[in-house]
Amino acid sequence: MKKIGVIGCGNMGSVLAEGIISAGRYRLYVSDVKREKLKKPVKLGAQPASNTELAENSDVIILAVKPDKVVETIEEIKSFLTPSKILISIAAGISTAAIEKVSGGKTSVVRLMPNVNVRVKAGLLPYCTGRYAAGCGKLTEQIFSPLGIVFKLPEKKFDSVTAISGSGPGFLFYIAENISAVCRRKGFTDKQSRAITAYLLYGAGKMLVETGLAPETLKQTVTSPGGTTLAGLNVFKQKNFPHILKKVIDSAEKRSRELSRRK
Ligand SMILES: NC(=O)c1ccc[n+]([C@@H]2O[C@H](COP(=O)([O-])OP(=O)(O)OC[C@H]3O[C@@H](n4cnc5c(N)ncnc54)[C@H](OP(=O)(O)O)[C@@H]3O)[C@@H](O)[C@H]2O)c1
Repeated sequence: MKKIGVIGCGNMGSVLAEGIISAGRYRLYVSDVKREKLKKPVKLGAQPASNTELAENSDVIILAVKPDKVVETIEEIKSFLTPSKILISIAAGISTAAIEKVSGGKTSVVRLMPNVNVRVKAGLLPYCTGRYAAGCGKLTEQIFSPLGIVFKLPEKKFDSVTAISGSGPGFLFYIAENISAVCRRKGFTDKQSRAITAYLLYGAGKMLVETGLAPETLKQTVTSPGGTTLAGLNVFKQKNFPHILKKVIDSAEKRSRELSRRK
């Protein structure tokens, strides 16, 4: 049974810990400077530990502290990072090369960027491997697959994927917020507005996933000549919606690049 450790059981670390426990195939250690954060994963079967105990005992160490705490945390566990261990960092904007540098030797480093949808086990989890971690992809995919789709990407694509899959839920929640506002303006109750909005997005997402059809094909199935959908879509076209969306994503990507450079 592989032994996995999660350092930092805040928003993201605790969700990853729960997903890993739910697979039932790993022994999990958890650590956090705030011991109360360990209550839930421990209740589910994880073993509480200090950072160094965790690093010593785990085959795979998941670093889920805020980016500004990454260096000090690696410094603390560095003497336990033997070549057989894998260090997986989820810290936004910190490259595998930077982590390799802090951890000293030839540590196998994997960088993973889960999005918030892992909370409902429908996340996107792109990852890349560092210089000494070429063979770690399969295990990474195995560990995180209970939380959504895990896929390998070249590290140079991380700013783009951060803008699309990392910030994407925020953009869709913004669209949802506006659909709800329109519903309320048209006299629907709050409860009705929330249900309409949630099921619109949930159902459309489920259609995309379960039919496997392209968005354009699904769009065609609800767009008849002279119909209501076409009338609405024409407004998107007139207002150049594709251009707005591209600007939104380009802007998020630019910000990701700026933040990475500052670290
Ligand atoms: N949240 C997301 O949606 C998301 C998405 C993708 C990637 N990430 C990445 O995930 C990482 C964690 O983000 P988060 O939102 O989960 O942060 P968070 O809620 O602040 O969780 C981090 C936890 O680690 C603890 N901690 C700090 N230093 C530590 C140390 N030396 N040893 C052990 N525990 C320590 C923190 O305690 P204190 O609060 O006392 O510092 C906190 O409980 C970040 O690097 C972020 O970039 C987050």
